[in-house]
Formats: sequence, C-alpha cells, structure tokens
Amino acid sequence: MSSNAIRVALVGVGSCASSFVQSVALDREQPGPANGVMHEYIGGHRLGDVEFVAAFDVDSVKVGRDLSEAVYAGRTAAVRHVDVPHLGVKVQAGPLLDGLDGALSDAVSTHADVGHASPASLAAALADARPDVVVCLLPTGSTEAVATYARAAAEAGAGFVNATPEPVANDPELAALFAERGAALLGDDLRSHLGATTLHTALIELFQSRAVEVKDNYQLNVGGNTDFLNLSDPSRSRSKQVSKRKALANAGIDSREVAAGPNGFVKHLGDRKVCFLRIEGESIIGAPVHMELRLEVEDSPNAAAVLANAVRAAHSAARQGMVGVIDPVCAFLFKSPKTGARESEALHDFQAFVRKSAEHHAHQAVDRSA
Ligand SMILES: NC(=O)c1ccc[n+]([C@@H]2O[C@H](COP(=O)([O-])OP(=O)(O)OC[C@H]3O[C@@H](n4cnc5c(N)ncnc54)[C@H](O)[C@@H]3O)[C@@H](O)[C@H]2O)c1
Repeated sequence: MSSNAIRVALVGVGSCASSFVQSVALDREQPGPANGVMHEYIGGHRLGDVEFVAAFDVDSVKVGRDLSEAVYAGRTAAVRHVDVPHLGVKVQAGPLLDGLDGALSDAVSTHADVGHASPASLAAALADARPDVVVCLLPTGSTEAVATYARAAAEAGAGFVNATPEPVANDPELAALFAERGAALLGDDLRSHLGATTLHTALIELFQSRAVEVKDNYQLNVGGNTDFLNLSDPSRSRSKQVSKRKALANAGIDSREVAAGPNGFVKHLGDRKVCFLRIEGESIIGAPVHMELRLEVEDSPNAAAVLANAVRAAHSAARQGMVGVIDPVCAFLFKSPKTGARESEALHDFQAFVRKSAEHHAHQAVDRSA
C-alpha cells in the first residue's frame, strides 16, 4: 500500500459503491485530470490514492466475494464502465438491523453469516482494517443500521461520509462523538454531482438574482435501480422527501408544500434517473416566467463524482485538525447539511476548503523535507 493511501471502508456494496470503486480503478489506470472529477488533487491526494481496506454488505451474492466482483453482482444497477482488477478485499457480513426493510426484503436474500454479525463483530472488523474514512451507502430509511455503522466508525476514530438521508451529521449526539474521537463527519444525504437538486437550487438562485419571484415549482424523479425500488415504499422515502425540501429551503424558498422527491420505480430505466422540473415565477408587473426541464443522468456515477470529493475532503479535514461536522464541505456536497447555504456560497466555501487543504499539504511537505 502506498504511503499516500487513504484507507477506505465501504458500508453497502450497491450501485453507488460500484461506480465509486470503478472511478478509483480508472484513476489508477489513467492518472490525470478526468471528466467529472472537480479536483485532480485534494489535500495532496488523487482519487487513485483511495485504497479499499474493508467492505460490508448483507446480500448473499456479495458477502464473501472480492470487492472487485461484488461491485457487479446481484441487483446492482450501475453500468460496468471500467473493469476493476482484483482488490484482495473480501466483502464481510454486517449487522442487518433495518437495512432491508420494505420492498428490498423481497429483492435481496441475506447471506448466512449475517446472522452472526453484530455491532461487536463490526467493531472488531474496523479495528482490524483501520480505515481513515468509512463511506455509508446503505439503503435510505435504514435509520438504525446507519446509526450503528456511524457509531462504530466514530469509536474506531475513522471519518464518516453519510450518503444516506438518515441523520448522522444532523444527530447532535453522533456529531459530538466524531468530534470527541478526532474524526471528520460529512453528511447527510449525498447530492448528485449534476443532478436534480443541484439543478433546481441553481435555477432558484438564478430566478432570485433577477428578482423573479418563484411562485410554484416541482421536481419529480423516477428511476429503475434498487435505490428507487426501496424509495417506492413511503415508509422508506420519508427522510429523502424531508432532505430534498431542506435543500430547497436552503436555496431560499418556502419548500414546505413543494413536491420534490422520488416519484416512482420504473424498472426498465435501470441506473438511469429522469427528473421533470418546473418552476413558475413572476417578473416585473406580474409577468409570468415558466420553465420546464427534463434531466436524464446515470444515477450512480453521479454519486461517485461527489464521493470523489467527499472522501478526500474528510481525510484532509482531519489532517488539518478539523473534526466533527465539516460545515464548508457539507453544504456543497450534501442535500441535508447541518448548516445550509445557497448554491454559489456553498461552491465558494468548498473551493476555499480545497485551496486551504492544498496549502496545508504543501506546508507539511516543507516540514518533512526540513
Ligand atoms: N445518485 C445516487 O445514486 C445517490 C445520491 C444521493 C444519495 N444516495 C443514497 O446512497 C445510498 C446508496 O444508494 P445505492 O444506489 O448504492 O443503493 P443500493 O440499493 O444499490 O445499495 C445498498 C446496499 O446496501 C446493502 N445493505 C443493506 N442493508 C445493509 C446492512 N445492514 N449492512 C450492510 N449492507 C447493507 C444492500 O445489500 C445493497 O448492496 C442510498 O441511501 C441513496 O439514497 C444515492
């Protein structure tokens, strides 16, 4: 393992994990600036410096396999853009808890080892793997499972990236635990890189910059991966709806009545996600401005591009002595940050964080050579 490695543990080896593992493999194979990777370096690290040291799942077709195979297995909808070489990391059984409640219970059969997994076995596995950062990619609605993995990561002194809308950065007790253990916490609910929320909030900012009042708007999303299957169950999608509305409120509108969320599982779309967005505004002397858009993206790579920022930011923040919730990073990379900001302010703060990380890394390099 290179001395510049960022040791990463994955929790949930589904579609987002697949695209992220593929993106790391590609950066190793072809280092250099890449489409969709905003920063070739963050804190002195390339994306290819990510080293997977552990992975947890419950699915019988993933547990026990090398991570390089598990990322294409089972119901994973992510498109195979890159062949991932053998990684030498066996997917381990994690504690199930509420991980597969709802529609997923019929779609995924659990591995026999899951019955033996517990918070204690998880803690032992993390102590053995010594990750710098744990990335949580569990199904939305797995409140108990997300909190269990978050607590275990904090106890192990690892940073945590919570891609789910379940509260971790927004849970004061968990946030305090990460601060106490000297680890960085990023969350909650990963944004997509160029997805519906980012497009929606950027357009609201555009309307407002021209003093065009946003009177009505909606953002309807459909997709065909297991995330959308899971979200088709109302008991599982509640936190996602709340999170999306929170992102719109941070953009500066009253979002309490706005329809914004997952609106259906359409199997044939696979990993494609389609968003129908409409904004109705009112300009000078009450003149109407109506905008209607259709955005189609591949869902999981859209998350991987944000993870490429988040993992390196979490690692670099801790190196700089920034612990607990890292506000200037969360506002740009997550839909439901503890402290929100408008799109342009969030981008400004994130870029300033990346510059500061580069300066810190350069100072450390000078100190090391002195
Ligand atoms: N663009 C995006 O795809 C995007 C954007 C923002 C947030 N997210 C969020 O990221 C999360 C992951 O999305 P995904 O598309 O990869 O989901 P997915 O359904 O493809 O993967 C989830 C994985 O978690 C595993 N799992 C379930 N319970 C578990 C447990 N207790 N322990 C370990 N593993 C368990 C499942 O077997 C599955 O492999 C979701 O919460 C989603 O809402 C995704």
